[in-house]
Amino acid sequence: MTQAIAFTPAFPVEPQSSQLVDQFGRYKRKLRISLTDRCNFRCDYCMPDHPEWLAKKDLLSFEELLKFCQIMVKLGIEHIRLTGGEPLMRQGIVHFIENLQHLKIHGLKRISMTSNAFYLKKYAIALKQAGLDDINISLDSIRADTFFSMTQKQIGPVLEGITAAQQAGLKIKLNCVVLADKNANEIVELTQWAYQQHLPLRFIEYMPLDQPEHWQREKVMSEDEIIQKLKPYFQIQKQQRQHDPATIYRLNEHYDLGVISTISKPFCQSCDRLRLTATGELFTCLFANTGTPLRALLQPNQEQFLLATIQQAVWYKKAGFIAHQQAPVRKISMHAIGG
Ligand code: 5AD
Ligand code: SF4
Repeated sequence: MTQAIAFTPAFPVEPQSSQLVDQFGRYKRKLRISLTDRCNFRCDYCMPDHPEWLAKKDLLSFEELLKFCQIMVKLGIEHIRLTGGEPLMRQGIVHFIENLQHLKIHGLKRISMTSNAFYLKKYAIALKQAGLDDINISLDSIRADTFFSMTQKQIGPVLEGITAAQQAGLKIKLNCVVLADKNANEIVELTQWAYQQHLPLRFIEYMPLDQPEHWQREKVMSEDEIIQKLKPYFQIQKQQRQHDPATIYRLNEHYDLGVISTISKPFCQSCDRLRLTATGELFTCLFANTGTPLRALLQPNQEQFLLATIQQAVWYKKAGFIAHQQAPVRKISMHAIGG
């Protein structure tokens, strides 16, 4: 599907910069933080069959997380997204979001979350009041049977969670991972539903980030295949690509649908993201085999070393999926790296 594109380092040496920039000249503005690897769902594109959860003591504390976020905002991060597993399974998250608000005077512009929405009915108002700017909700189907077969959970609480978030005034986007053998024939149905609900929707190509040996290219529905399915039902105009990982298609001149095509059209050249796992490992790429452990450096009197370690790790960020074209060789899967 994809052409291997080589792109060369922009700078010959590490820069003396207070910003986060890698050897290809890509500045980092977005940070995704996994608050827990635990999840009450078992999405088969994400979870191993028998997940082994991290011990609670191995998770970064909120104090450590806040310290990390302070440093990252100082280094130019403008957007923090809280992920999991399921981030609402981490006790104390609302208070953490309240604390993150203080970073807005230092340059943080947005605090977001990605959730399966199962607990959202309970949390929507509190999250809005804490200052959460927006939430991405995974919704792979609106049919109860397909939803169950993909997640091993009932859809009811998820739909209630979406309604609660709408009523609380949270900005919502829906995420749907398309699997050729599961929900590919529901692309039109889900789009029509989201369109009627005025809920922005993004289809995501299935990426090789689940348990080893599980991903198969035949199961990927590409961006072009997704759009082909929609063509008989909507008038579709492709929009100019912005800095967003999704390509936007305008349906019927007013509804924007996104497609994230990591596999068929990787966007690594403009990648401005970093990821922190729940145990404090910095991953500079979703497809990296290893991360840089930072927990020890989040203790008192380590700031200079922490800063230098982060900058160095970012500098050596690899080209990305464009260069790999294959699943990473590692034990950690999507539920632990935070989507
Ligand atoms: N491929 C594509 N997207 C995935 N997600 C999880 N696993 C995969 C995968 N293998 C996405 C889901 C979820 C978010 C946390 O990550 O869309 O919304
Ligand atoms: Fe849980 Fe999200 Fe992974 Fe599904 S995609 S198993 S909801 S972490």
